[in-house]
Amino acid sequence: MAALSKEKAAEMNSLDKRIAVAPMMDWTDRHCRFFHRQLTRHALLHTEMIVTEAVLHGDRDRLLGFSPAEHPLALQIGGSDPAKLARAARIGQDHGYDEINLNVGCPSDRVRSGAFGACLMREPALVGDCVAAMKAAVTIPVTVKCRLGVDEQDPGPALDALADAVVGAGCDGLWVHARKAWLSGLSPKENREVPPLDYERVYALKRRLHDVFIGINGGVETLEAAADHLRPMDGVMLGRAAYQRPAILADIDRRFYGASTGVRLETVVEAMITYAGIERARGTRLHQITRHMLGLFHGRAGARLWRRILSVRGGRPDAGVAVLRDALAAVEATGGTDHGCNGSAAAASGIVAV
Ligand SMILES: Cc1cc2nc3c(=O)[nH]c(=O)nc-3n(C[C@H](O)[C@H](O)[C@H](O)COP(=O)(O)O)c2cc1C
Repeated sequence: MAALSKEKAAEMNSLDKRIAVAPMMDWTDRHCRFFHRQLTRHALLHTEMIVTEAVLHGDRDRLLGFSPAEHPLALQIGGSDPAKLARAARIGQDHGYDEINLNVGCPSDRVRSGAFGACLMREPALVGDCVAAMKAAVTIPVTVKCRLGVDEQDPGPALDALADAVVGAGCDGLWVHARKAWLSGLSPKENREVPPLDYERVYALKRRLHDVFIGINGGVETLEAAADHLRPMDGVMLGRAAYQRPAILADIDRRFYGASTGVRLETVVEAMITYAGIERARGTRLHQITRHMLGLFHGRAGARLWRRILSVRGGRPDAGVAVLRDALAAVEATGGTDHGCNGSAAAASGIVAV
């Protein structure tokens, strides 16, 4: 296992961030995070990005509310006004978040017009001021998530300048999405696929800033790949793989955090049935929860049936938890759960038999 020594982790930060699930707008809402937390107790989870103005003036219970079960949990904020970010970070801390993360990597149109996200790669001094203001306002760790650079920037000096500015301002860690962003010409989705990944550039940053937590993100598809990255790096952040194939999260605690077994997927579904029952009674539609669970049995027998039952029956406005029960029974009947799965199906999903 590639792991930080306990001493090194404590020295760098109070939170163990070897494995994290990425902030993903419209995806990592509180239902998704509750679900992911059933799969791993230890990986650090992130909220979707919430812009400063929303934190300051929006419906805070709706935007910032979460279940205590979601800890450890980082709130990702987007903005570039140090005073407002400081207030937003304080609000996040008061709501019980374990960490605040500043978005310096998101290239969407909305973000470009608001002068935050990836365009801040061009303004390291301002990002440093933002981090300093946030650090002064909270006692929990403040981290930054960034890119290698934007547009024609050279990722050598661009990433170094950003990293030096935030580290100089007391930043507790830097997550680097290991590709540049193109602010004109590419959609946000293309910006997660087209600019080439350059892991070496992030490894070089870690070698230079050996005392600072540096985590890597982008294109990590398996826990084997995550373990490889953890040799040079302090942390690995999983985005789309975790969302689209959530079963890969089920082996994180065994593999990286000393748990004796992986997590059974049917146990996860049982927990989600209880959760969905409580949420249904509060008026949450089943689909708001189950839409994050569609990929749970990816690669296993019954995966298509699971997906179909959840999307068709689960999508109806009056759908109740019986849909989840029936979908699980259908997977069990086809041998796709841990009770019945064969080795190749388990290997395809990244789960060890438990
Ligand atoms: C649907 C979606 C929404 C995203 N929203 C955010 C966001 O709110 N904040 C952010 O920093 N990155 C966001 N990202 C980028 C991811 O955090 C991550 O950096 C990117 O997907 C690369 O990691 P991956 O290859 O493991 O998916 C988003 C990605 C996706 C797919």
